[in-house]
Amino acid sequence: MNKMIKNITARTSLVLSAMSLLALSSCRSDKTNVMYMPSMVFSPAIKAQELGSMRPPVAGTVPRGFQPYQFANDPDAAGRELKNPLRRTTDVLARGKVMFETYCMVCHGVAAEGDGSIVPKFPRPPTLHSDKVTQWTDGRIYHVISIGQNLMPSYASQIDQGDRWAIIHYVRALQRSKNPTAEDLKSAQLSQ
Ligand code: HEC
Repeated sequence: MNKMIKNITARTSLVLSAMSLLALSSCRSDKTNVMYMPSMVFSPAIKAQELGSMRPPVAGTVPRGFQPYQFANDPDAAGRELKNPLRRTTDVLARGKVMFETYCMVCHGVAAEGDGSIVPKFPRPPTLHSDKVTQWTDGRIYHVISIGQNLMPSYASQIDQGDRWAIIHYVRALQRSKNPTAEDLKSAQLSQ
């Protein structure tokens, strides 16, 4: 028993003297303090979206259901090959209207005549009721929204693919409202 107490006292005094040595060593002014985990003190400051801030996805990764755009440099091929996958339902038109009025109206105007509220601070865009755009296929308009055209920027990062097609249905509805066919007029009268 006595031996054990002696042992403990001996150990305690050893630890104490080691600690005081450590303490004294840190009193010397020409030496910096001991630094634990320097990697935490000097951690690299990486901005949120910078490479290395998150685990980068494997090259070529795309979100589920995402179709990479293949016609970046070929608007005519886009016009030929791409078909609007959405049916023209009331819901699709309503969604197209919301998206058009969120993203396009500021420049193109509420009825797509080129008289958005940003004009004339921003150059006036052409009307979307022209023969040119009326005769364009949906795919050709899709190309302009996805890639942009001259002064008009790309909206690919802001408007998902489905919403782009819904906007096109809505633009078609605007076009038909300006230039209704005899059929359109007949059905409009019927529903009055
Ligand atoms: C920042 C203003 C701006 C916004 C927002 C904008 N556009 Fe445009 N858009 C323009 C301008 C300017 C042009 C003419 C570009 C040129 O000179 O070729 C244009 C051209 C177009 C054309 C081709 C017209 C033609 O005769 O060549 C289409 C189609 C079109 N825009 C659709 C849209 C749609 C749909 C949206 C919304 C998703 C949209 N734009 C958003 C400014 C805008």
